[in-house]
Amino acid sequence: MAGMASKLRDASLLKTSCYVNGSWVGAASGKTFAVENPSTLAHVESCPEFDAEDTELAIQAAHAAFKSYKKTPARTRARWLRKWNDLMLENLDDLAVITTSENGKPLADSVTEVKYAASFYEWFSEEATRIYGDTIQASNPACRIMTLKEPIGVCGLIAPWNFPAAMITRKVGPALAAGCTVVIKAPAEAPLTALALAELAHRAGIPAGVVNVITALDNTVTVGKVLTTHPIIKKVSFTGSTGVGKLLMNQCSSTLKKLSFELGGNAPFIVFDDADLDLALKGLIASKFRLSGQTCVCANRILVHRSVYDKFVQMVVDAVKQFKVGDGFGEGITHGPLIHGRAAQKVGEHVKDAMSKGAKLLHGGEPLPALGPNFFGITVLADMKPGMRICEEETFGPIAAFFAFDTEQEAIELANDTEVGLAGYFFSKDSSRCWRVAEALEVGMVGVNVGAISDPAAPFGGIKQSGFGREGGKYGIDDYLTLKMVMTGVE
Ligand code: SIN
Repeated sequence: MAGMASKLRDASLLKTSCYVNGSWVGAASGKTFAVENPSTLAHVESCPEFDAEDTELAIQAAHAAFKSYKKTPARTRARWLRKWNDLMLENLDDLAVITTSENGKPLADSVTEVKYAASFYEWFSEEATRIYGDTIQASNPACRIMTLKEPIGVCGLIAPWNFPAAMITRKVGPALAAGCTVVIKAPAEAPLTALALAELAHRAGIPAGVVNVITALDNTVTVGKVLTTHPIIKKVSFTGSTGVGKLLMNQCSSTLKKLSFELGGNAPFIVFDDADLDLALKGLIASKFRLSGQTCVCANRILVHRSVYDKFVQMVVDAVKQFKVGDGFGEGITHGPLIHGRAAQKVGEHVKDAMSKGAKLLHGGEPLPALGPNFFGITVLADMKPGMRICEEETFGPIAAFFAFDTEQEAIELANDTEVGLAGYFFSKDSSRCWRVAEALEVGMVGVNVGAISDPAAPFGGIKQSGFGREGGKYGIDDYLTLKMVMTGVE
């Protein structure tokens, strides 16, 4: 404990209990689980192993708090969120240290993430006071119709480890702005960031029970089951794999919860023959290698027009040779480890599969055991073909896999040849093509001549088996509201 705490300006941000009803509590069983630094495998801290009964208490706390929180003036909720944003920025460096300790990403990336995470509170503090309904002309002239937007109730929020701050704030921001209360299941791999955020919610004066943060590793499935079947929970928001999403959706059907699911992607990244290749390179580095390829919106299949293919692939190889892979706290490190050994193993399998089917290895392709078991080298594969595993599965690792194409139509068909549809990117200087391709891609988000598309103002989410619902932007709050029609007779 001294190790991690000594790196913090304010060691009281390091919490090892869950936050329920405004208090810090352990599991009733007294059980805990270990949080590990994925770079060094060092023990960082231990967190409570919550079970079904512990989770029930958090849900009851959120339920009790909802009765008064839903009636607080929107302006008051906005001020709490704004204060929470301000406290995150005041404690930026400490939060970043906590994130890097448990997630492994380079410290500078953690700083960027915490700023991005806080921006959802800023954004939704502004949205809280701008929830509008309609007046509607009734068919019967003796009646008037209005709509009211009301908070849906207690929300179960299940967050992933890849952005331990931002994936929580992107859910909590709109929930609190709307007047909902929440039970957050923190990611088992990276729960300490979530707990530090809870401490800042406390300091921001957010009333007890409005925000509850719970942790579990072995009991993750049990806790997930409670959150997705409990009649008090009216909405579940989940970010994670498509497989787990399907399971949770089944569980939620018993009580017909409202759902937002941000699931897996398999993003195409298309470079047309008329693209600005320097810009495309910048976009690709941002999209493909952010967090060593462990984001849902990472480019997974890079499609390049044959006339610029060799040149662009070589530009990418030259660029990745400048990367420095290592412990996220190391000086000059640009890329950290994968989250655990299983992730590194899957990346290795994707490389082997592609090479066994004819792909050419241009860079990397091997684990980096000298750095630790979770490290995998930045990899560039050329001559990719449909039928390889990378075409069908999200790699979630640092492989840039290149496919050549000859026509726009072929590129679009390749891009859409997947069951998921989260993000897609393309680079072209032809404005007509830009519209055509943006409309043709079967995805929820398109980056045109840009590789970094995450923004609190933008509606984030997918189509097909990438899920539904939108997080962020003016649409983000709708997922936490119900629409009530009020018809008034005027005679
Ligand atoms: C992700 O969901 O993995 C990406 C998150 C983001 O860019 O906001």
